Amino acid sequence: TNQYSITLLPGDGIGPEIMDVTVKVLEAVGKQCDIKFNFQTALIGGAAIDAKGVPLTPETVETCLKSDSVLLAAIGGYKWDNLPRELRPETGLLGIRAALELFANLRPATILPQLIDASSLKKEVVEGVDIMVVRELTGGIYFGQPKGIFTSETGEQRGVNTMAYTVSEIDRIARVAFETAQKRQKRLCSVDKANVLDVSQLWRDRLIKMSEEYPDVELTHMYVDNAAMQLVRNPKQFDTIVTGNLFGDILSDAAAMLTGSIGMLPSASLGANRPGLFEPVHGSAPDIAGQDKANPLAQVLSAAMMLRYGLNEPEAATKIEEAVLKVLDLGYRTGDIMSEGAKAVGCQEMGKVLLQVLE
Ligand code: NAD
Ligand code: IPM
Ligand code: MN
Repeated sequence: TNQYSITLLPGDGIGPEIMDVTVKVLEAVGKQCDIKFNFQTALIGGAAIDAKGVPLTPETVETCLKSDSVLLAAIGGYKWDNLPRELRPETGLLGIRAALELFANLRPATILPQLIDASSLKKEVVEGVDIMVVRELTGGIYFGQPKGIFTSETGEQRGVNTMAYTVSEIDRIARVAFETAQKRQKRLCSVDKANVLDVSQLWRDRLIKMSEEYPDVELTHMYVDNAAMQLVRNPKQFDTIVTGNLFGDILSDAAAMLTGSIGMLPSASLGANRPGLFEPVHGSAPDIAGQDKANPLAQVLSAAMMLRYGLNEPEAATKIEEAVLKVLDLGYRTGDIMSEGAKAVGCQEMGKVLLQVLE
């Protein structure tokens, strides 16, 4: 029996609802594949603010560092939106990413044939889309110094963030991107704003330099504004995309909609020699929280990514992915992916059919 210690961070909003379903799925798959999960739950985001006064405690960081993998749902909500920056749920999320040095965020956007009608784009445009966004996650404008709201000598306030990347930060994410592309269609598109930003020029120069080491990967470059347009115009032109923290945040939400719903998209955040963290691309969806309406599949598929990329249990990962496809084949749909004639289910019910299909 392989044993793993997993830290669960359910967080806020729909987080606990989708985590609940996912833990049951993991336990069912564990039984079949002879894997034992030792789960411990820790606080993050608004839940941590309410219990401990801060969005990320040293105990949570400690617990995550000691585990084999971390599974996060989502953080945030209206209740905490007006707190000072250092006390906001989002700061807790950035804090755990930094503490675990999770510099590489893999966000796949694959269109499932079953969901082609759920996309807001035409069938011909999205059919066959299979994109991997490699987003830099612990640098760029999210973390650059100086940052803050400062008051100048004239008394006027000035908000500042700094988009900065060092060569070593660029090189390590570039390497992950080239290696990811190598295992896919071997086409890597680096997205930047090198026509305006110096930080992007350095980014581009380093990508070009590293491409010498990967002659089998075709490297292209695209400005981020054009990339946003091309993603909705002709998404099939993309295989692997590599980009900085902010551009990756925005483009991965856009890519999510190609596949029908952000409620379907998982992600893996990986670092060096630390446990990986696995989380859906979406947030805490406060508009539907507590109503049993959330789509748990992005969370369930994040657990599959955990098995594949974090724990090296590909067989168990495949079992989960196949169960998700089967449930969709059987016509079960939460509200976000609903289509005519499908069977409407809530979050818990979706979990139940997943378990039935697994057994
Ligand atoms: P969101 O992703 O939470 O929601 C956007 C829209 O998508 C909403 O209409 C929501 O109902 C819907 N949606 C999202 N996930 C869904 C699911 N699983 N099933 C069905 N529908 C789903 O983004 P937002 O509204 O901009 O942000 C809400 C809060 O979440 C904010 O506090 C934000 O900071 C936070 N957030 C957290 C994360 C994270 O924890 N990784 C990511 C994004 C946003
Ligand atoms: C995401 C989210 C986060 C981000 C926020 C909540 C800090 O939007 O994971 O995509 O911007 O990285
Ligand atoms: Mn985001």
